[in-house]
Amino acid sequence: MSVIQPTSNHPTHAAVAVVAAQAPLQLIQVPTVAPAAGQVRVEVHWVASSPFDLHQAEGGFFLLAPPQLLGDTATGVVVEAGEEEDSLKIGDEVFCALVPVDKQPAHQEFITVAAHVFGKIPSNTPPQIAATIPSSFITTWHTLTNYLSIPLPFPKPSVYTPPNADAPILIWGAFSSVGQYVVQILKHYGYTNIVVTASKRHHDMLRSFGARETFDYTILEDLERLGDFLNIHAEGVGEGRVKVLDGIGSLEGSMEPLARMVPPGSLVAVLLPVIKKNLEGGVEYLMETQDVVSWKGGVETVGVRTHFYQQDEYLRNNLQPVIMPAMLEQGVIKPNRARVVEGRTFLERAQNALDMLRRKEVSGERLVWRVKET
Ligand SMILES: NC(=O)c1ccc[n+]([C@@H]2O[C@H](COP(=O)([O-])OP(=O)(O)OC[C@H]3O[C@@H](n4cnc5c(N)ncnc54)[C@H](OP(=O)(O)O)[C@@H]3O)[C@@H](O)[C@H]2O)c1
Repeated sequence: MSVIQPTSNHPTHAAVAVVAAQAPLQLIQVPTVAPAAGQVRVEVHWVASSPFDLHQAEGGFFLLAPPQLLGDTATGVVVEAGEEEDSLKIGDEVFCALVPVDKQPAHQEFITVAAHVFGKIPSNTPPQIAATIPSSFITTWHTLTNYLSIPLPFPKPSVYTPPNADAPILIWGAFSSVGQYVVQILKHYGYTNIVVTASKRHHDMLRSFGARETFDYTILEDLERLGDFLNIHAEGVGEGRVKVLDGIGSLEGSMEPLARMVPPGSLVAVLLPVIKKNLEGGVEYLMETQDVVSWKGGVETVGVRTHFYQQDEYLRNNLQPVIMPAMLEQGVIKPNRARVVEGRTFLERAQNALDMLRRKEVSGERLVWRVKET
């Protein structure tokens, strides 16, 4: 572990920033903030790069006042604690997803945020593996419980059968980083009719996670079979409804095919932003889900905004500090595969990760990289 210095000796530190859409990333200095009551300062060790970074850096999505720091996932070590903070102590190894309300993106040497944003990394998990988890995990839990109203009582009672356990739940894009956790969490809670789309090469893995039926979204016959499957099973749902997670949010790639096959009355949660290809080959970002495609009668859609999970007081206090480490430690979730991005410097590693996302080299894995060399 590197030597920890008091904040006063480090009034600023290095961070990676977007200065304009599609411009190379830059290294800038930002203030090092001392923790207020209930906050901690963490020296950041490993971070992940995600599609949201690319949406901001490439597409200018929510690039409000550049220079804009990036990164929604960090691991590191607590180096300073504010007053009234006793859940974490100096030296604790922690992992977290950071959402805009935290005002502290991950790709910087130090972050100072509320302690309830962090979970302690279980001792059996290396930090670069822990870095693959938080943002996808909080999206998974928040989406299932708050947008799809799928109960996930925590801790799970020793004997538990969920309501409508055998109603179909469709995960479109189940090998995405979010989709993999969704399947595993649903299986853990006893949902038995988990239906997924993914490229064929991932089907065995998804079945081992808990998927009952697997369909390849690139094969027309599979899509026809999926439509038939949903219609047949929708009749047996009883008081429930068919629930769908679109884990991709692509207008042409996921929402249009879903609109053709999802039975009337279903509930569809779409991970925002919706990505629409424009005629010039670029992308537009939409925040609307209901009227952008023609759903069948009574289909209700909701756009998922994980960035607001802290508005739910229970999730704010429990999701990252309690539930996330427990699910990892108990082996309920198997972390996404981690691909370590190399580079000589902090800036080079950040740029290399972004370029790999831009070239669409990432499938079923998370890009992780070190902020500092040790
Ligand atoms: N609103 C929110 O709260 C929130 C939170 C997290 C993520 N997101 C958004 O959700 C999207 C996915 O994020 P992620 O990190 O999970 O992505 P990811 O892991 O990078 O997704 C890659 C996977 O997507 C699959 N895929 C690509 N196009 C597909 C399609 N048309 N149909 C089905 N599967 C497809 C590929 O699966 P195969 O290998 O099987 O082909 C690939 O493995 C991003 O746009 C991200 O910004 C939103």
